[in-house]
Amino acid sequence: MSKSSNVVWHHATVTRERRESLSGHKGAVLWFTGLSGAGKSTLAHAVEEQLHQLGSHTFVFDGDNVRHGLCSDLGFSADDRSENLRRIGEMVKLFLEAGIISLTAFISPFATDRDRVRTLVPHGDFFEIYCRAPLEVCEGRDVKGLYKRARAGQIPEFTGISSPYEEPRNPELVVDTGTQPLAECIDQVLALLRQRGVLALT
Ligand code: ADX
Repeated sequence: MSKSSNVVWHHATVTRERRESLSGHKGAVLWFTGLSGAGKSTLAHAVEEQLHQLGSHTFVFDGDNVRHGLCSDLGFSADDRSENLRRIGEMVKLFLEAGIISLTAFISPFATDRDRVRTLVPHGDFFEIYCRAPLEVCEGRDVKGLYKRARAGQIPEFTGISSPYEEPRNPELVVDTGTQPLAECIDQVLALLRQRGVLALT
């Protein structure tokens, strides 16, 4: 039995809809996925900057940051990655109620974990954005020097080297972060948000 079985949900009078009509945009979850070094965080923060300038309420959840706090007890086994993403899923679900556009930058290598978050939030509010960059490009960048260490056998279960990355089969958007300039990637994401009614068309 769940430990929370005797807890009753409390309904707010300030609803998601009321928050959204105040802010003039819808809440959404922009779930950036891709290899380490693919450019997820860079793109998420750049999109957030644009959205902020448009007056939108946003928040970026970044793998490296979240793992310092909320998920500091977790490692990189399949089970730990799954728990990492479950917690983030629950978090973005709450942020959705707050009418916020959440942008998440986690490798999230396993399709089942991504699909679980998708089913957690209302249909149409989840946007899986595949930051597609070939392993050679990510490894060539090696911004944090982790690929080099992983190749040397110093980091177990490193995504792309000794742990798999399952490509999204049917993402809402694919951005070629390995080849396209950042500005084009940002435009693609913003166009999607306008097209799907998260942002007003003007
Ligand atoms: S996820 O798989 O659970 O989604 P997450 O995005 O939170 O991963 O963390 C990935 C970041 O942790 C990488 O960008 C990298 O800096 C660091 N990292 C450390 N060890 C590993 C590992 N074994 N595999 C992948 N990333 C790792």
